[in-house]
Amino acid sequence: MIRLEGIGKEFGDFTAVKELSLEIPEGKTCVMVGPSGCGKTTTMRMVNRLIEPTRGTVYIDEQDYKKKKVEILRRDIGYVIQEVGLFPHRTIAENISTTPKLAGWDDKKIKKRVDELLEIVELNPEENRNKFPRQLSGGQRQRVGLARAMAADPPVMLMDEPFAAVDPITRENLQNMFLRLQRKMKKTIIFVTHDINEAIKMGDQIAILKEGELVQADTPEELLANPKNQFVTDFIGVDRAIKILDLFSTDEVMWTEAPVISKKNMQEEAQKLIEKGEKGIPVIVEDEQGNKFWFDLDELESGQSLEEIIRPLEITLEPTNSIKLAMARMLEHNNDAVLIIGDDDEEPGILTLKGIRNYVYRICASDPGEKVEI
Ligand SMILES: Nc1ncnc2c1ncn2[C@@H]1O[C@H](COP(=O)(O)OP(=O)(O)OP(=O)(O)O)[C@@H](O)[C@H]1O
Ligand SMILES: [Mg+2]
Repeated sequence: MIRLEGIGKEFGDFTAVKELSLEIPEGKTCVMVGPSGCGKTTTMRMVNRLIEPTRGTVYIDEQDYKKKKVEILRRDIGYVIQEVGLFPHRTIAENISTTPKLAGWDDKKIKKRVDELLEIVELNPEENRNKFPRQLSGGQRQRVGLARAMAADPPVMLMDEPFAAVDPITRENLQNMFLRLQRKMKKTIIFVTHDINEAIKMGDQIAILKEGELVQADTPEELLANPKNQFVTDFIGVDRAIKILDLFSTDEVMWTEAPVISKKNMQEEAQKLIEKGEKGIPVIVEDEQGNKFWFDLDELESGQSLEEIIRPLEITLEPTNSIKLAMARMLEHNNDAVLIIGDDDEEPGILTLKGIRNYVYRICASDPGEKVEI
């Protein structure tokens, strides 16, 4: 666990970071975002004491980090520098082995670790270990930067725009590779980016900074649902509704207790539901072959016949799929509902376009600063 407690930095009479407090739970990734010059790199470099804070301190696992020797602190904190910063006159292997060498590992152990790390970041050791940075592509250099930061297997990592300055496809590959790795490594990470989409994708927690101050720190879901003020809303962007689609899974929005009625007797059974006072719910219709259809009870009440309004329920997704994927499937099939089937013991659910619309609208319609339950 890392806890920044009221840390701040002044350069002469310029305050780069005001009193900033932030807690990053063990094994989680906190992404710091904010406009250029808002103090992200300064904050990060205070965590490994490359910059001494003017005020405040940092607790790592409840211990004040000033009590630790700086060399030990830095060994335990991997650092991916903004713009990668590989040593140009050293080979890839030499670059990666910087920290293990300082820690006094023997040559054999270092060589083994270098090859292992190259494999981890998906670079062929044979082909790459003796190359120089200029012989690699931008994306490959970023992989080496990551390998170097992970060399001594530090429990904490600071990553300053680690995947910037590469094309979007390479960037996505790097992000996915890192997410796969982090699922296993479970390091405590502070990750800096300019890109709110990257923050939403990579972060368990997002901290938004503005002019050296923390504006909001929350989970991506909370941040999108409850931006604290207009600055955060603007930073998230005009497509907040689309970003929300990506973040929530189908099981969070679906109906789990939609009535299932038989196609043979659907007229009577639908009528019974109306008499019971049900309203605006999706109803699943099943024929004798097990084919499924559906309709919305409100449509029936508007006077249309049931034969006219039932439509096939032919798309199936899983509870963990995003509602964005559900939307995409609906659009592709010109359909307005999907069936959600999980494990055997889970009730199937139905996710409708109307359900998604209401859910996203409820989140987006609130004013910045207003709390919406999600
Ligand atoms: N050594 C220094 N001396 C004086 N001012 C500095 C120094 N280092 C940083 N600053 C100033 O502090 C502010 C914050 O800089 P910092 O590098 O932390 O920003 P950043 O959020 O990382 O920006 P970017 O997104 O562009 O990397 C900037 O205005 C910068 O000019
Ligand atoms: Mg920076």
